[in-house]
Amino acid sequence: MPFPANKERLYSHREIQKRVKELARSISKDYKKEELILIGVLKGAFVFMSDLARNLSIPVKMDFVRLASYGSGNKSQGKIHFTKAIELPIRDKHILVVEDIVDSGLTLKFLQEFLKKENPKSVRICALVDKSERREVPITIDYCGFSVPKGFIVGYGLDFDEQYRHLPGLYHLHF
Ligand code: IMP
Ligand code: MG
Repeated sequence: MPFPANKERLYSHREIQKRVKELARSISKDYKKEELILIGVLKGAFVFMSDLARNLSIPVKMDFVRLASYGSGNKSQGKIHFTKAIELPIRDKHILVVEDIVDSGLTLKFLQEFLKKENPKSVRICALVDKSERREVPITIDYCGFSVPKGFIVGYGLDFDEQYRHLPGLYHLHF
């Protein structure tokens, strides 16, 4: 595949920061006086989680997981499995999963079901981007940054073939 050079900016770093602050305010309010663990989904969520966490006004613990699916392409296919497991005990804790983008929803469905077996107090989802067009399983996104109906999105942690993660804004990649 030729290197895709054409990218169109959807949201600037400034717009993202504004939205992240709003999300952080809602989360801080909703979990006031509660013990919260953020679980970031690597690698895509690392930039978002770092900004989100630093805008919270409540103390949180943090952990990360990494998931992979057998199969190829940019779509979750086949069996999803952990390549980095959760490390903190989550029993009786409030969990907020921090994800970069929800596409088919299969990754989050798998993670949600896994986490629920550990008997946490609650499991909610915070996603930077909700990309709804290819959704295959219903997912409730409790805290959503931006809704983008379709396309391939990069920047602010999101990659195409490990590139573009470093960009401060969010871009639509044209192939
Ligand atoms: P899902 O299981 O189909 O919801 O896929 C979610 C994962 O696929 C995300 O965590 C991303 O890593 C990747 N992904 C899906 N769409 C995009 C995109 O537009 N840009 C970058 N990564 C994407
Ligand atoms: Mg991802």
